Amino acid sequence: MSPFVRAQVSGRCTVVVGGQWGDEGKGKIVDVLTAEADVVARYQGGANAGHTVQVGDETFIFHLIPSGILHPGKRCLLGNGVVLDPVQFFKEYEAAEARGVSVEGRVGVSRRAHLLLPYHKLLDRAREGISARKIGTTGRGIGPAYEDKVARRGIRVVDLKDPERARSLLVEGLERTRAKLRELGVEDLGDAESCVEETLALAGRLLALATDVGSEIQQALLAGKKVLLEGAQGTALDIDHGTYPYVTSSNTTAGGAACGAGIGPTWIHEVLGVVKAYITRVGEGPLPTAFPPELDQKVRDLGSEYGATTGRPRRCGWYDGVLARYSSRVNGLTGLAVTKLDVLDTLPEVRIAVAYRTPEGETREFPADTTVLGQVEPVYETLPGWQEPTVGATRLEDLPAKARAYLDRLEEVSETPIRMISVGTRRDQIIRVG
Ligand code: IMP
Repeated sequence: MSPFVRAQVSGRCTVVVGGQWGDEGKGKIVDVLTAEADVVARYQGGANAGHTVQVGDETFIFHLIPSGILHPGKRCLLGNGVVLDPVQFFKEYEAAEARGVSVEGRVGVSRRAHLLLPYHKLLDRAREGISARKIGTTGRGIGPAYEDKVARRGIRVVDLKDPERARSLLVEGLERTRAKLRELGVEDLGDAESCVEETLALAGRLLALATDVGSEIQQALLAGKKVLLEGAQGTALDIDHGTYPYVTSSNTTAGGAACGAGIGPTWIHEVLGVVKAYITRVGEGPLPTAFPPELDQKVRDLGSEYGATTGRPRRCGWYDGVLARYSSRVNGLTGLAVTKLDVLDTLPEVRIAVAYRTPEGETREFPADTTVLGQVEPVYETLPGWQEPTVGATRLEDLPAKARAYLDRLEEVSETPIRMISVGTRRDQIIRVG
């Protein structure tokens, strides 16, 4: 049988996506799955992501380099769909090496990936500073970098091969941004002024890592290897499927994995959706199942719900089954990884939103209209809290019966089988199901 018949490919490709508004704990799930994988690739977003991984007593936060780098010998790739900030990338690269992580020879970047430059960050921050309709971005330049990509004036890794052309593209970008900033009343470009020389100085190092990510993934799968595609942010932040305009500027959902890694969808076998046992959101935009203030603060403290990239406090709320079902559909989820169950251990009762009440009546659909989403009233099912620690559990049977009942209902409402449950930040605090 030809090895090129997809169904006969002996490797396995799994996509890990966020099922909510990001910060679901994908970093830990990817870290656990990487132990069994050979290749890990990011496919969208940029340094707006913050993937936190705890190894023993050490905490690592990665913004660009896949968190799989913590596993020796695994190949880590940044696909064409990522917007790559070279300065941030090498900062992370060097910081990891300084902490004893061997990065050399293990990281590859797509030749087709677009560069995110200091002037993108400046524009992002300037707009957020004056806009009457703030998005609450991370200030990492994501929107402006994707704007340049879509407007066909972006600079890709491969463009650095021709220094003169790269210089003129960089100067053009800088001048264009200067004009836009002037319109916003900003005259000082600060650090961004030096980006032309700074980027050109990093060109050689970046080109040495340049590769065809899609081709590497295909070769790995044909050779029977396991590939993980690591999503950043979450479904409700997807540019097409999220709570527009309060979204990021990339396709965070599983469709984006194929496109942003450079493979077709038929190479993908599984899509694992990561969801917290509750929900959080950072930045602007509605959160229908938001807790009342006191519970909000309590869960924020219990779950250390502060942004890994910006340190901003995250808003917290009950598990939203309406969003979970929607997420299951738009991603084609084959399984769920439920994280941070332990954060709910002390609560006397727990709730799951199963529908929304809208002025037009009750709905089980996630509304396309974000204004409507901001007005819905969730219909909750309330279950008793288990009020026992779950942190030591390594099998489903170890969990308190009431915690299992909660997960059973969460699974039904989400219409997706639970495959993993995380009950703490450490690698070993994980339950595999089935
Ligand atoms: P941007 O991606 O920086 O443009 O921000 C757009 C929206 O996405 C804002 O609401 C951010 O708070 C949110 N966002 C971006 N990255 C993350 C993330 O990694 N976790 C959670 N929210 C994020």
